[in-house]
Amino acid sequence: MEAVININVTDLLGNKHQIKAPTDMGLNLMEAIRANDLQIKATCGGMAMCATCHVVVINSHLLPAMSEDEEAMLDDAFLLNIPHSRLSCQLMLTPEMDGMEVKLGEGTGE
Ligand code: FES
Repeated sequence: MEAVININVTDLLGNKHQIKAPTDMGLNLMEAIRANDLQIKATCGGMAMCATCHVVVINSHLLPAMSEDEEAMLDDAFLLNIPHSRLSCQLMLTPEMDGMEVKLGEGTGE
């Protein structure tokens, strides 16, 4: 299993970025996106309280199930109706996510 994984991120302008992220540092996907200088608001800093780290997962991966907090926040932000919506701050990076593709979602930009 890789300790560094590749993640493909499409930004709000439709530009694709391939970022690399370590899986052994306790990072979540929002932090990895930020660390690569991509714009993501993530106002609450990863507390599952703002939904401005919303991503749409494009390819299917073995992602952990949503916590009640994540699901409730997405619901409050009217994002649950967008298929494959997740809060990137709630997705801890794991080796299984290598090659994952996500698109930055509504609310992540200025
Ligand atoms: S950063 Fe606020 S919900 Fe993820």
